[in-house]
Amino acid sequence: MDEKTSEYDFLNLSKNYSVKSNITRDEEIQFSDKIYKYNKYSWKQERNIIITNKAIYNLKKLTLKRRIDLKILIGITISKNSEEFVLHCSQIDYDYHYTSPRRKIIIEIIAKNYEIIVQEELKLYELTDKYLNEYVTLKDEKEKQISYTRMPKNEKRINVKDYLFGNQSKTDINKNSISSKPKFKNIKVNYNDFEIIKIIGRGFIGKVSLVKYKKDGKYYAMKMMRKDQIISQNLHDNILLEKNILMEAQCEFILSLSFFFQTNERIYLITPFIPGGDLYHKLKSELFFKEDLVRFYSAQIAIAIQYLHDLGIAYRDLKPENILLDEDGYIKLCDFGASIKLHVTEKDSNFAGSPEYASPEIITYQGHTSMSDWWSFGILIYEMLYGYTPFYNMDKDRMFDLIISGSISFPKYFDKGDENEEIEYKVSEEAKNLIIKLLEKDPGTRLGKEGLEEIKKHQFFYGINFDDLGKKKIKALFKPDINKNDLTNNFDEEYLNLDIKESPVENWIKDEEYNQVFNNFEIKEEDDDFEVLDPVEMVMSTPKEKI
Ligand SMILES: Nc1ncnc2c1ncn2[C@@H]1O[C@H](COP(=O)(O)OP(=O)(O)OP(=O)(O)O)[C@@H](O)[C@H]1O
Ligand SMILES: [Mg+2]
Repeated sequence: MDEKTSEYDFLNLSKNYSVKSNITRDEEIQFSDKIYKYNKYSWKQERNIIITNKAIYNLKKLTLKRRIDLKILIGITISKNSEEFVLHCSQIDYDYHYTSPRRKIIIEIIAKNYEIIVQEELKLYELTDKYLNEYVTLKDEKEKQISYTRMPKNEKRINVKDYLFGNQSKTDINKNSISSKPKFKNIKVNYNDFEIIKIIGRGFIGKVSLVKYKKDGKYYAMKMMRKDQIISQNLHDNILLEKNILMEAQCEFILSLSFFFQTNERIYLITPFIPGGDLYHKLKSELFFKEDLVRFYSAQIAIAIQYLHDLGIAYRDLKPENILLDEDGYIKLCDFGASIKLHVTEKDSNFAGSPEYASPEIITYQGHTSMSDWWSFGILIYEMLYGYTPFYNMDKDRMFDLIISGSISFPKYFDKGDENEEIEYKVSEEAKNLIIKLLEKDPGTRLGKEGLEEIKKHQFFYGINFDDLGKKKIKALFKPDINKNDLTNNFDEEYLNLDIKESPVENWIKDEEYNQVFNNFEIKEEDDDFEVLDPVEMVMSTPKEKI
């Protein structure tokens, strides 16, 4: 008879009879994986772990070493800055100290079973310490005094669901990003509700137009994406995540979703029209920005990036084209088509984003984490200050070599190409130092490991009050020129002249059967408080490569 296997039984132990014979009959293996355990000297030892509906097992190869019944588990401590965690046990049992990239799944499964068995919420503690050694109660300490525990104090306790579902970001982690944005209202609309005015942008598979919503006369941006291209490029999950981020993000500096609809051929994301255009357009006309303006923009970008990281999302496409300027002169991050659910410690090995902004670990396919966003942040700051990216080369392979091993130079003059036309840069040492620290080739030592808090402390940001900035209380240093008679005055001619007519779509996609994969884009009526950012299931798909 075939045994039922859990999707998280990564070692396939449900089918291993020698292991199963050591587990009580009514126990079901729900998780198994390789894991690293630290012993009392903090040496890392490779072990296997099994989680059943009743207990946690530690195995050396396939030999069972210890069973921790869920009833004796008194809490779990996690590090916010590493993958480490500690299982705290009551009575004579000493603690276990582990590290695993699948920590979140482990805790979710333990917490769920714990609640069923103990009828209480599992106690979860979160610490900023990267290494948790001092929170591990050792065997001899337990033997001396049964009640002794190194479990952290109650004030370090966090809500399990907040950890799993990323809600902390809205409360304690990232206070700078609390926003007053209204929640997405699921108003039914269709193509005929909009008047298409002009194309304002175009990307990998999307075309963005300025549109007018006929019912309220307001202007919006409509991003249309062809379903045949979404499927052929394997971007379904990316676009679904893009929609969910726009719909859910409660951050002042992240674009929001106003409407959504789909036809047999296309997906439509409708967002408020942000009239100041994107930073690429502004940079092209001004060559480079003054340092104060760069500070103002980059602080907002950092808040937005951290907000996404707190939700377990790596943004992966930071570049001037994706940063819009609103009428107050504040930024809005757009384009989440390359984003991925990737918790700080998890890695993805696909190429993502645009080559100029890609980190060394992306280029070398070493597996990247959300740290790559801080690299792109460094490239972007350089580009805003100098007018071009630091490793730019027409030859892509040469550019990749420079990204991997080239050093950064800080020129004194901007060379306009014409003779005698040189403009002096005025870039401070603090700015250069910030760039050097963000463009650290090794993600393990790059600035940003500790998140926004670490970045805020850099001298470059002295004088910026992030709390005020997050509430848009600081007066912007530049306000875009908004022409009420021509709303597209801040957008590129290159797009404005494009034909607004929609191109024909492959016939096969019109077929209902093919189209079913897009059913999960719809928001069900009853999903009032929708939970769309599934904490466990990672969206892993082939990302796009923009070359
Ligand atoms: N809400 C908006 N208001 C104003 N302009 C917008 C808005 N959304 C997008 N744009 C413009 O359209 C351009 C393209 O949008 P976006 O980056 O979302 O799509 P894309 O690059 O085509 O996407 P993808 O990279 O996923 O193919 C942006 O660079 C920006 O200039
Ligand atoms: Mg874009």
